[in-house]
Amino acid sequence: MERKQIAAGNWKMNTDYNEGRELAKAVVAGLQPSDVLVVLGAPYIHLKNISSIIQDVSNIKLAAQNCHQEESGAYTGEISAAMLKSCGVDFVILGHSERREYFGEKDELIARKIDIVLRHGMQPIYCCGERLEVREAGKHEELVGEQVKAALFHLSKEQMGQVVVAYEPVWAIGTGRTASPEQAQEMHRHIRSLLQKKFGKDVANATSILYGGSVKPDNARELFGQPDVDGGLVGGASLKARDFLEIAGSF
Ligand code: 13P
Repeated sequence: MERKQIAAGNWKMNTDYNEGRELAKAVVAGLQPSDVLVVLGAPYIHLKNISSIIQDVSNIKLAAQNCHQEESGAYTGEISAAMLKSCGVDFVILGHSERREYFGEKDELIARKIDIVLRHGMQPIYCCGERLEVREAGKHEELVGEQVKAALFHLSKEQMGQVVVAYEPVWAIGTGRTASPEQAQEMHRHIRSLLQKKFGKDVANATSILYGGSVKPDNARELFGQPDVDGGLVGGASLKARDFLEIAGSF
């Protein structure tokens, strides 16, 4: 099975209601027809609205940026998988390093979130990646391997077939310092070989592995040109429709 090329934006905690609507509309208006799947990772307040803005565009999908691990209940301020699904959400970004660092999320919790998102028929975008000191110590492949195993290795082949992986080295996020295409390729190949050992060649080959960390219009083409880099998870540059569209056109 051919794996999908994906340009996913993670807007993080940016855009008010009007800005979010305008940004989504601008992406829809400027998107060129192609096989690349474009994903908009928007704050909760935009989800229902963007879902209708993109409803007639087959290659744009909607992502949320988090989800609670329980079905429902007394969890003030949280959002459930059923709520996201009812707003037309297709993907949920999970395990982002900002959630790990600022909200203390560990792989065990992230694994539960992955399960509930799958149970509700949405696709997790599972983020992994090492901090700078880990890379400097030469332990990055080991650490990312542990993250991948802890969050994904309990899944069935069918479930794994629904997961998108995003490798986001923490030292490259929001820093303007991107991994080199060689560094990205090396890690993506490593992740794919772990997936192959556990889930088999077909599943591993069909899994989209995205790179995230200071993806910009001027470096996207070289990164996406690597054999195991199937697209990007884009933060800052996804907030400008022109830049994001240029990135989506860089395959
Ligand atoms: P930047 O593109 O702003 O570095 O953010 C990357 C990221 O965290 C995407 O999830």
